[in-house]
Amino acid sequence: MNHNTSVFLFLVGLSLGLTTYCYSQKSDVFLPHTAFHPGQLWPDSEGNHINAHGGGIIFHNGTYYWFGEHKGENSNAAWVGVTCYSSSDLYNWKSEGVGLQVVDNELSPIVRGCIIERPKVIYNPKTEIFVMYFHLERKGEGYSRAEVGLAQSNSVTGPYQFIRSFRPNAGFWPHNMSIGQRQSDITTQDFEKWWTTEWRQAVNDGLFVRRDFEGGQMSRDMTLFVDDDGKAYHIYASEENLTLHLAELTDDYLSHTGKYIRIEPGGHNEAPAIFKKDGRYFMITSGCTGWEPNAARLLVAHNIWGPWVLHPNPCVGDNAHLTFFSQSTFILPVQGLSNAYIFMADQWRPKNPIDGRYVWLPIEFHNGLPLIKWYEKWTIKQVFE
Ligand code: DGJ
Repeated sequence: MNHNTSVFLFLVGLSLGLTTYCYSQKSDVFLPHTAFHPGQLWPDSEGNHINAHGGGIIFHNGTYYWFGEHKGENSNAAWVGVTCYSSSDLYNWKSEGVGLQVVDNELSPIVRGCIIERPKVIYNPKTEIFVMYFHLERKGEGYSRAEVGLAQSNSVTGPYQFIRSFRPNAGFWPHNMSIGQRQSDITTQDFEKWWTTEWRQAVNDGLFVRRDFEGGQMSRDMTLFVDDDGKAYHIYASEENLTLHLAELTDDYLSHTGKYIRIEPGGHNEAPAIFKKDGRYFMITSGCTGWEPNAARLLVAHNIWGPWVLHPNPCVGDNAHLTFFSQSTFILPVQGLSNAYIFMADQWRPKNPIDGRYVWLPIEFHNGLPLIKWYEKWTIKQVFE
């Protein structure tokens, strides 16, 4: 072998080696996912950990679209907006960019630096418009405003146009609040201290509903639900996070009709997620402990207007009392399968929010009630088919 041949062979060998090395590095990242790995990093199709926290999913024309909060490294504020990802198999997600963008106009409620949480998107077939609701807090005002934000788009991935933000159901009484409760003259001024027995009783009897009657009810953690008949509902943590409200939306999904109920008065529920199976409605919520996890709760109703009956924590096994270190955000019906629902939850990392993890677990049933257990790794085929 002459000198030129051996140099040539050396270069071929080197390039083959490098190719193999690069391929294996790449394939670690880009190899398609074939299973869910709850609580692990979840790279999108470009290798970046999915950034769609507190999210929800809409299925449209054969594709799932996941909308969620874009989070940065140091703060929970919205510096970018609501992100969107698409998938056909639920394991592999492609970034579709920012669906709703924050703006640089200080006068806008969605100015960069506001707080946008728990966005959910539904489609209205009558108007052919995609409607997004989310929890909005104004820049620099902490969590005091407790408003719902509303945006719309002609296209599923956006861009979504911000319409307005408000507190829902101003001037309307909840259907399940009695005349006595509506007319009571007990006010928040009557209580120097919170959390006393008398104060709790007053809360249960609608103390905060009366306080907020004119200006609209507080609306923080939220979800949307479209029933089989096309009616849509907004479910939100209201009354200082003490009571959930379930409110009907107008036919165009762009306003509240004023018909709403209170659920679990004084029960301190947030992070509502809902699904319907065999004519029954199931709602999974959490308690209120900030970014710290707590035990999930289960509410069941035969009629969306209640009564909603409280059941024990649907999670079982190790760390069930902390919902596997996560908090509910959405329950996803898997398309093409009957009785296949995925519990979607967030493991928050408040010190580095962008590193927050996703806990997706199958909802199984035991004695007619949802049951959620931990899987280190699972597939739809393995659990549901
Ligand atoms: C828990 C809520 O579920 C989150 O969406 C967020 O609002 C945090 N509390 C803030 O502490």
